[in-house]
Amino acid sequence: MGLQAAFDLLLSSETPLDGMDALIWQSLAAGATGNKHPWNTGCLMTIKKTGDDSHCPSGRTVVLRRCDVVSRTVDFHTDVRSAKVKELELSGGALCWLFYEPSTRIQLRLQGTATVVNDQKADAAWEAVTLQSRSAYLSVDPPGKHVWSQQPPSTAERFLNQSESEVGRENFRLVRTQVHSVDWLYLRQGGHVRASLTYGAQGSTEVSWLVP
Ligand SMILES: Cc1cc2nc3c(=O)[nH]c(=O)nc-3n(C[C@H](O)[C@H](O)[C@H](O)COP(=O)(O)O)c2cc1C
Repeated sequence: MGLQAAFDLLLSSETPLDGMDALIWQSLAAGATGNKHPWNTGCLMTIKKTGDDSHCPSGRTVVLRRCDVVSRTVDFHTDVRSAKVKELELSGGALCWLFYEPSTRIQLRLQGTATVVNDQKADAAWEAVTLQSRSAYLSVDPPGKHVWSQQPPSTAERFLNQSESEVGRENFRLVRTQVHSVDWLYLRQGGHVRASLTYGAQGSTEVSWLVP
């Protein structure tokens, strides 16, 4: 069943609020495993420091790689040299995920705290990264470095064989987000619907409707 149909079915039940948390996390889990799923990629927003006392939002697309329904965590992979890692370090890991795919008219926002992981969990994740995807971690120069030339910089150094690609592990990180709250909005024909979910430190979940 598609994402929209699943929420339509839930909303047609007697107790939709009771099933909201489970369906959101079930859908995130599906997003983490299927690249055709509307929530396989999301916009990840961090806080960028632009001066001693000034900040601005910074967003980019990332792939949702893993989701743990029990611990309420979602993961993405990145290059440790990228700007977003620095931004997370300077903001105590504050971030927001946004998932939206126009055909569903369903928006999901996750607010949470991220941890940059480089232990055995990251080793295991790296082992599963395909050779093609490893190229993202194989640039000699750091991602985001300015290059002042007419033609875009060559990426030839990234086309390595499997054993050569192991050098990319040094740059690879798993970033795990502990989700604290969720804002779900569905611009449903016949009436918009919005819900809020908040996760307490002791494992409690508070779910309520919001005025859309
Ligand atoms: C479809 C798509 C998926 C992407 N997935 C990731 C990802 O999983 N991790 C990542 O670090 N960057 C990913 N990127 C690149 C980021 O959007 C971004 O350009 C890059 O990470 C640099 O971001 P930063 O300078 O804010 O750190 C993806 C881009 C696109 C278009």
